[in-house]
Amino acid sequence: MSEEIKACVIGHPVSHSKSPLIHNYWIEAYKLNGSYGAIDILGADLKNGVRRLIDEGYKGFNVTVPHKEAIMDLCDSVDENAQSIGAVNTVVIKDSRLHGLNTDGYGFIQNIRSVQPSFEFEGKCTVILGAGGATRAIIRALIDEKISRIIILNRTKARAEKIREDMAGSGDLIVVVDWEGRNEILKDVDLLVNTTSLGMDGQPALDIDLQTLPESALVNDIVYAPLHTDLLKTAQERGHPVVTGL
Ligand code: ATR
Repeated sequence: MSEEIKACVIGHPVSHSKSPLIHNYWIEAYKLNGSYGAIDILGADLKNGVRRLIDEGYKGFNVTVPHKEAIMDLCDSVDENAQSIGAVNTVVIKDSRLHGLNTDGYGFIQNIRSVQPSFEFEGKCTVILGAGGATRAIIRALIDEKISRIIILNRTKARAEKIREDMAGSGDLIVVVDWEGRNEILKDVDLLVNTTSLGMDGQPALDIDLQTLPESALVNDIVYAPLHTDLLKTAQERGHPVVTGL
């Protein structure tokens, strides 16, 4: 039998992560010789924690809050995509060296493709609500899919402006609008994405009026607890194609 492949997700806290469930499902389905766990590592212990994974023969790990940026300094190489996003969510260990990648944007695009295969990104106008950790990866992926316009609205406008500045060479297609203006910019939009934590279990509701959003516009919420957020329920009632954050 082939050598066992050990992998895990690291974070703090990490017990809420669905990654072990997902990875172990596929390990079982494909009868792979591997295991996937969740390891809680505090920020102050990140370097030692990663060293222990190398010593214990791990082949790689995923990275969640709050280590996605800090892990970059510990990587021997970080690919161009992860560099431009400014965060790593996947590390491959080879010959005791760490290689950092980011699959968040790929996951975002493939999720929409698998649920709404007829949706074309090229030439489309997107509204992104939020400018947190996940937003950069989504915006980078949308630019790679040749989206023509991205409107970012975030409670803290400076964070949205920083993203526009950091997207070197693509800043022209990004527009930043005040959070208060969210009900007024939906008229010519093809894709609406919520990347804020609003609407998540235990968080305040997302207050937005979809009245002027064209009926053909696709609505996606990256929140997956609950899976069918109020935003998606309202959008579905209005006849929009929707994609959950699963
Ligand atoms: P993550 O890294 O998981 O994206 P985050 O960086 O905390 O998490 O981002 C959460 C997003 O939800 C941010 O865009 C945040 O807005 P701020 O940048 O202003 O913090 C947004 N958010 C959280 N609570 C909010 C609220 N009550 N009203 C509006 N936006 C909110």
